[in-house]
Amino acid sequence: MDTINTRLVRITGDGEKDGAILSEAAEILRRGGLVAFPTETVYGLGASAYFPGAAKKVYEAKGRPSDNPLIVHVSRPGEAEDFAVTCPLYYKLAERFMPGPLTVILPKKDVIDPSVTGGLDTVAVRCPSNGIARALIAAAGCPVAAPSANRSGSPSPTKASHVMDDLSGRIDMVIDGGECAIGVESTVIALDPDGGCTILRPGAVTAEMLDGVTRGASVPEGVTDPAKVGDKPRSPGMKYKHYSPAAEVIPATGDLDKFISMVESDPEEKKGVIAAETVRDRFSCTVLTAGERDDDLTYCHSLYDLLREADRLGLRRVYIRLPHRDGGYLALYNRLIRASGGKMTKL
Ligand code: TXA
Ligand code: MG
Repeated sequence: MDTINTRLVRITGDGEKDGAILSEAAEILRRGGLVAFPTETVYGLGASAYFPGAAKKVYEAKGRPSDNPLIVHVSRPGEAEDFAVTCPLYYKLAERFMPGPLTVILPKKDVIDPSVTGGLDTVAVRCPSNGIARALIAAAGCPVAAPSANRSGSPSPTKASHVMDDLSGRIDMVIDGGECAIGVESTVIALDPDGGCTILRPGAVTAEMLDGVTRGASVPEGVTDPAKVGDKPRSPGMKYKHYSPAAEVIPATGDLDKFISMVESDPEEKKGVIAAETVRDRFSCTVLTAGERDDDLTYCHSLYDLLREADRLGLRRVYIRLPHRDGGYLALYNRLIRASGGKMTKL
């Protein structure tokens, strides 16, 4: 792949300057180029969903298998009409969760470039709540196909510097809008004929929240268990090893004291642990601090940055404990199962 000059631009809150940056970025998208931009979940690598071949460039830049389809981003839920077959349940969900971290799979229309959907007859629709993302999509005037803006397989980017580390020289522009608020990717759901939905990838919109709006949200086995050879997953992304740093990731669920014993008894010198400040003193190895609080939101926010930090520090093994799988912890559980290649330890 030829190296191109990647421009890093910062949104500063100065209306006129920001407007000029967004117009320029929108123009790049309209001409079939690639722009990375912040969302409330992770940074996305955007391309026009209509421009022939633009999505193909996304796959090349990321080194992503081309059968793993991209999410199409809109600035308002109603814009999905142009390229997807919507239904009343889509609008019910949109009313409650959009703009926000929810992606809904719908039947697709022909206007979408086939490379966006990896040959599927469905399309994933998401309306992000991040103001920069929405302004960019609106300025581009077309739906924006965007996977996470990382090299395929590495942890998703939650800061512009992560995007530059992975994709500098391979894309046209990176818009720095600061740290992503949530830190793990959106919840992806398929709508079921009975009025319920199936969670293909858990995120900040939890099964409990979806239960209140649909006739029940189900979580298939593939979300919490490593894919078995020969499995045909409903979402192609479920089958790939993902989100991994070079360090070995060892996630565990259950008792804190047992977890501390497990970490402390490991003779590996270059080991570390991702933990909250409240338990830092209980470890004698490197502690990568998730934050002040020992809760799911704190861990989601910092997870990918800390997995990248583990590599910067040259750690060979990094431990992380989840107390259980409920609520937002299900998203963490799912990412850590993928990052560790399926090795969840139950304590
Ligand atoms: O939060 C997010 O969703 C971020 C930001 C940038 O919006 N995007 C993101 O995209 O995480 P990506 O490409 O890294 O993950 C998209 C996931 C993959 O697991 C893919 O397999 C699934 O969505 N997906 C996309 N289109 C699909 C479809 N038509 N049917 C089933 N799964 C689909
Ligand atoms: Mg991704």
